[in-house]
Amino acid sequence: MTGFFSSTADVPAPRDVPRHVAIIMDGNGRWATSRHLPRVAGHAKGVEAVRTIVDACARRGVEYLTLFAFSSENWRRPAEEVSVLMRLFISALEREVAQLFENGIRLQVVGELSAFEPRLRQLIANGIQRTAANTRLTLTVCANYGGRWDIIQAMQSLLAERPELARTPELIDEKMLSAHLAMAYAPEPDLFIRTGGEQRVSNFLLWQLAYTELHFTDTYWPDFDAGALDRAIASYRTRERRFGRTSAQVADSV
Ligand code: IPE
Ligand code: IPE
Ligand code: MG
Repeated sequence: MTGFFSSTADVPAPRDVPRHVAIIMDGNGRWATSRHLPRVAGHAKGVEAVRTIVDACARRGVEYLTLFAFSSENWRRPAEEVSVLMRLFISALEREVAQLFENGIRLQVVGELSAFEPRLRQLIANGIQRTAANTRLTLTVCANYGGRWDIIQAMQSLLAERPELARTPELIDEKMLSAHLAMAYAPEPDLFIRTGGEQRVSNFLLWQLAYTELHFTDTYWPDFDAGALDRAIASYRTRERRFGRTSAQVADSV
């Protein structure tokens, strides 16, 4: 399934442009509030930023872009806000899938999608199917996603496929489990970005972030543009990715 390296089993070759960028798009509400607008205006503006960043990542040669759109804990928000977010997701899929297809972008949506209304699920399925053959950039939208949910569903899926492992659990290894994660088709993220000033992971890709470089910026998501992306990538380039080794070993390996 995954032909990719695991950061705990192998060390990937260093690259100037991160192959996989994963973003927590935070700060929509505060962006709006600071302008005396309703929070939902921030979410609408946030959709525009998504368009900009998808395009910018494709142009820079990023192969995988993963966006946290709705967490498994975001249901705790007022029903009105949740409902606006769902409507925005629906309208974004209705409007943007044709453009994604044109631009060579493959869409994936991961998370517990069964919680969504049928119309949204249908649009998601159509968008994934329509763009499935594209190869320029894989855009993954994490919706009703939680890192803990992902690890649990991976374990359930592994045991459903190989029930005998329940009797020999010592045979379960990282590779087996990671092949059942929702994003088993992608390498682990090289660069994680969180906008909006908070320095936490908020139940995003818990397993996959093991050796990801973390970049936090105060910029609210609706203001995050190609220049801000370039600053994050520039910061990434200055990092020494040691994966547990010493600096001297890293220097010797290149
Ligand atoms: C991120 O912006 C969007 C979602 C979580 C759906 P927020 O809505 O969390 O914005 P802040 O953090 O309240 O400013
Ligand atoms: C994380 O943002 C989830 C998304 C951006 C979809 P939150 O705004 O929900 O995170 P917390 O609650 O501040 O940790
Ligand atoms: Mg937030």
